[in-house]
Amino acid sequence: MLSLKKLTWEVLVSASINVSAPGKLMLFGEHAVVYGYSCIVTAVDQRVYVKAGFNGKDELVVNAPQLGVSGYRKKVDRLCDQEMPKQVSFIEAVVRRFYQNYGLVRGLEIATRSDFSHSYGFGSSSAITMATATALSKLYLIKLSKKQLFDLCYQAVLDIQGVGSGFDLAAALWGKTLLYKKGARLVKKMILDQLPIVVCYSGVKADTPTLVRQVAEFKRKKPRKVKQIFNKIEQLVLQTEKVIIQKDWQGVGKLMNTNQRLLEDLGVSTLKLEKLNKTALNAGAYGAKLSGAGGGDCMIAVCLQSKRDAVEQALIKAGGEIMPVKLNSKGVTWQKK
Ligand code: PMV
Repeated sequence: MLSLKKLTWEVLVSASINVSAPGKLMLFGEHAVVYGYSCIVTAVDQRVYVKAGFNGKDELVVNAPQLGVSGYRKKVDRLCDQEMPKQVSFIEAVVRRFYQNYGLVRGLEIATRSDFSHSYGFGSSSAITMATATALSKLYLIKLSKKQLFDLCYQAVLDIQGVGSGFDLAAALWGKTLLYKKGARLVKKMILDQLPIVVCYSGVKADTPTLVRQVAEFKRKKPRKVKQIFNKIEQLVLQTEKVIIQKDWQGVGKLMNTNQRLLEDLGVSTLKLEKLNKTALNAGAYGAKLSGAGGGDCMIAVCLQSKRDAVEQALIKAGGEIMPVKLNSKGVTWQKK
């Protein structure tokens, strides 16, 4: 006869869902996108994985060994009701939103793992949120449209972060490379079979909400100046869409450099990022810019294949860490086990 413990595990395993969702890389239009302008984001081949199943209890149990979370427990009617470790806050928030929206409250066992460290700024929190929401919809057999899934996750992310455009959730959900507007008001898949870029981590972890609030403060003080910057960013994002399709990498590089200067005007760049950009340009890249909120995380540079090695070596010498990521990856996927 099976013991109760074994039986619970059998139930969990038989009904568990495995989901994976990609991380993201912001290519153009960061910050302006928070105010309703367009950005270009791509899904990367580094993914997060969520395994979820019912546990027959009245608790949410989370295991995320890479984040130092083991056997974290919370009663299902107490989700988000007190300080939570940051690592599980997005999971708690999205489970709570799901329960609220669909009135279904059962204990869950959730395990996560990731291809990449959350330090790199590839959007692991958003990818985990999207993977968890997808797992819940499959476990409960609730058919959600992509927009419903997006909205559920966007609410959860705003519950935790308070700010953001949702571009990272869009990349996790739809995958590929997207022309995107806040709240998924525009989600247009771009035709992009390649974009020869080098991705380099600056060694400094950035805090996105802090930088978004910093820009909000700057906008409050200098509304006209910031509006002008955002308008210029919008124009270059729309130009980039065309230039990428033509595979005009030199043109893409020029637009990258312009976007970088506008981000410097916004006050979100750093000396380290600028040093890495300059290094890439000196080594033969067509263009370089920071990617994401600024303050640290990654920079990207566009260069021909023939220059890639020289650009990468120069960046390493300047203190950067090359991230071997591929762009234009598949959005969220799931499997029943
Ligand atoms: O720091 P990242 O890579 O998460 O990018 C933030 C991009 C912002 O436009 C600054 C914020 C947002 O939510 O769009």
